[in-house]
Amino acid sequence: MIMNTSKSTGHIGILTSGGDTPGLNAAIRGLGKAASNTGTMQVIGFNDGFRGMMENRSVRLDNGKLSGILTLGGTILGTSRDKPHKMPMGGKIVDMTDVIVENYYKNHLDALVCLGGGGTLKNAYRLSKKGLNVITLPKTIDNDIVGTDMTFGFDTALGIAVEAIDRLHSTASSHHRIIFVEIMGHKVGWLALGAGIAGGADAILIPEIPYTIDKLAESILERANRGKRFSIVAVAEGAITQRGAKLIDAVEKKLDKAEGEERKKLKMELKELDSKYRGSTMQMIQDLHKITGLETRLTILGHLQRGGTPSAADRLLATRLGTKAVEYIERQQFGVMVALKGTETEAVPLEDVAGKINYVPKDHPLVISARNVGTSFGD
Ligand code: F6P
Repeated sequence: MIMNTSKSTGHIGILTSGGDTPGLNAAIRGLGKAASNTGTMQVIGFNDGFRGMMENRSVRLDNGKLSGILTLGGTILGTSRDKPHKMPMGGKIVDMTDVIVENYYKNHLDALVCLGGGGTLKNAYRLSKKGLNVITLPKTIDNDIVGTDMTFGFDTALGIAVEAIDRLHSTASSHHRIIFVEIMGHKVGWLALGAGIAGGADAILIPEIPYTIDKLAESILERANRGKRFSIVAVAEGAITQRGAKLIDAVEKKLDKAEGEERKKLKMELKELDSKYRGSTMQMIQDLHKITGLETRLTILGHLQRGGTPSAADRLLATRLGTKAVEYIERQQFGVMVALKGTETEAVPLEDVAGKINYVPKDHPLVISARNVGTSFGD
């Protein structure tokens, strides 16, 4: 955390990076309006994340631009997954960090606010180590950022996934089918867990609790024996079999100690294992059909979960974090993420959160509640 004592006013740069998330515009608006209310700050929005900042594509976010965007999904600034130090440039990957630093000064910025998830946090931390005054706001539907109780976007995605499960119930029950619903979340299971519980799924598969197809089949057959001729299985896109998890675990342990070429090799190996063992929901339903003989179907919610208007809770959180960022800028408190902790907001040092993942603890109260209502985790 960097604390300067001198007071300065001026220009705030803002960008949205990584996958879009409901609530981004509410956060941009919150920050922009709060900055404008100070009477001394101007906000410059960079288009398309770090790529736009590198190309110096920007827009002045005056009150006209901030009006009417609270309820809009997506991001008015546009976004990309490009990283400053690994920028795709004409078929090559180039380190463009210095150009981004140069554009920070060219635009006379006093602070740069990056709205993003885990990847953005790491990139923002790198820029902060280059001497830029950086603040981040935690956004992602995955809720996988450590140091904050909640990320904005999660609540909206949760609502969409729950509604989908509600709707799937009637068709699954009418046709006596096992319907799998694949839910986003990258390598964590918060969304699938939340939506599975709130939607009353009969089984929930999340990456943090590796499953076996036999255990899953057992729980579904048990239900069938009790006269329940349909089931809903909420599957996180990162769900993994116990065998896959063991293999990945072993490589991750080696990776901790590896350096140089060995590290590169292990990272490749990890990628291959990930694509082989994660997200294979189609295979899963075929295997389940073979074991149980029951009719199965798959619904992949995909980007539907990220689209459209943010929920009220996400508008509140995004507005709160956006306006709070301006307070930190006024106090010259940089190198932090604005986090939600209980009922308060807090400045969490980037070094404490960058590169870390907020996994669902195996004994989280929600997991225990789900087990207590008879939900199977396939373990
Ligand atoms: O991190 C947000 C997220 O929506 C994940 O849940 C998902 O795995 C990923 O982004 C999808 O990425 P893309 O937008 O590149 O398809």
